[in-house]
Amino acid sequence: MRIQAALVESAGGPFTVHDVDIEEPRRDEILVRIAAAGICHTDLSTRQVWPPARLPMVFGHEGAGVVEAVGAEVTGVAVGDTVCLSYRSCGRCGNCGSAQSAYCEAGIAALNATGTRTDGSTPLSRDGERVFGNFFGQSSFASHAIAYESNCVKVPGDLDPVLAAPLGCGVQTGAGTVLNVLQPAAGSSLVVFGAGGVGLSAVMAAVSEGCSVVAVDPVASRRAVARDLGAVAALDPADVDDVAAAVRDLTSGGPHSALDTTGRSAVISQAIAALRNRGALALVGIGKPAELDIMTVMTKGIQLRGVIEGDAVPQEFIPRLITLHEQGRLPLEKLITPYPFSRIEEAAQAAAGGEVIKPVLTFA
Ligand SMILES: NC(=O)c1ccc[n+]([C@@H]2O[C@H](COP(=O)([O-])OP(=O)(O)OC[C@H]3O[C@@H](n4cnc5c(N)ncnc54)[C@H](O)[C@@H]3O)[C@@H](O)[C@H]2O)c1
Ligand SMILES: [Zn+2]
Ligand SMILES: [Zn+2]
Repeated sequence: MRIQAALVESAGGPFTVHDVDIEEPRRDEILVRIAAAGICHTDLSTRQVWPPARLPMVFGHEGAGVVEAVGAEVTGVAVGDTVCLSYRSCGRCGNCGSAQSAYCEAGIAALNATGTRTDGSTPLSRDGERVFGNFFGQSSFASHAIAYESNCVKVPGDLDPVLAAPLGCGVQTGAGTVLNVLQPAAGSSLVVFGAGGVGLSAVMAAVSEGCSVVAVDPVASRRAVARDLGAVAALDPADVDDVAAAVRDLTSGGPHSALDTTGRSAVISQAIAALRNRGALALVGIGKPAELDIMTVMTKGIQLRGVIEGDAVPQEFIPRLITLHEQGRLPLEKLITPYPFSRIEEAAQAAAGGEVIKPVLTFA
């Protein structure tokens, strides 16, 4: 079938929309007509480092749409179902069996970020030439995507796809890290470093749990959104000599918990220095290998935890996020700017530049 997809054709190159062909779904696959797709920072950072041998590539891992066809073995979704797409897991290993599919033993990267199916093939091609895809079991920067039961979540048919799309990664990751991992007590203090799509989703979840939330971000408009979402303070790291000391002042001696969404070692050090003794730090941002102040982590008894996708099992957690949204406790529309699919590169630039928090592409 002929579809439209946004290709990245050179290392770090732009997204450009082209006609490509997509195969019929295989026995375990689901063809989804994409109605909306969010842009996550991971799409932008991955295109910079993607192996040139695996180009052209279709990214996109926050798709939402309607099931158009299913393979013979698919039982969990049917043609016509409205779905939101998330990360893919094997469904068979010990972690998948114990509601920890984010740490699937098949490997989150092996199933989500090779550019191919597990057998090395890809459902996409252009003029007979291979196009890489299967990003997070979807590659949803396209009018249609091939997905799997493990990453397809049924959502109400009347849910706006523009709201549904970012639930699949950014919102799930930020809110899940708060609700599933840090589980802060009401009245406790929590600091979020980096007020992008992930960080502001964490802000919303922590505010709705009754926490006193401080956000740290150099971008003024993002700090304003954090305050609007209920953060008690939003700090510009450039405004103070010592970010950790400023955070301690704002949280009566240091926060009980913190999230890093920047992946920057200097910021992680600020979080460790700011936390009160026995505080918890969740590392969510993708970063380079870095040195860690082992003695401070040790002597303060800090609980350090890496987190993938908010520890969420999408089929359980995304419906919970939708309920929170219905209750007005997760006003994610405040993060979203819709763009027509044809303007994907402009949307990506706006997200990278900080002007837009969560661009969501729409498909006519
Ligand atoms: N672990 C996971 O499962 C998972 C899932 C989704 C995204 N991610 C990663 O999480 C990170 C955040 O994603 P996003 O979409 O929110 O990205 P984003 O770029 O929108 O947000 C990052 C924010 O950090 C801010 N920042 C930069 N320098 C800072 C500093 N010194 N102090 C405080 N803030 C600073 C930026 O201004 C920006 O607002 C990315 O690295 C992304 O790849 C991880
Ligand atoms: Zn698994
Ligand atoms: Zn993501």
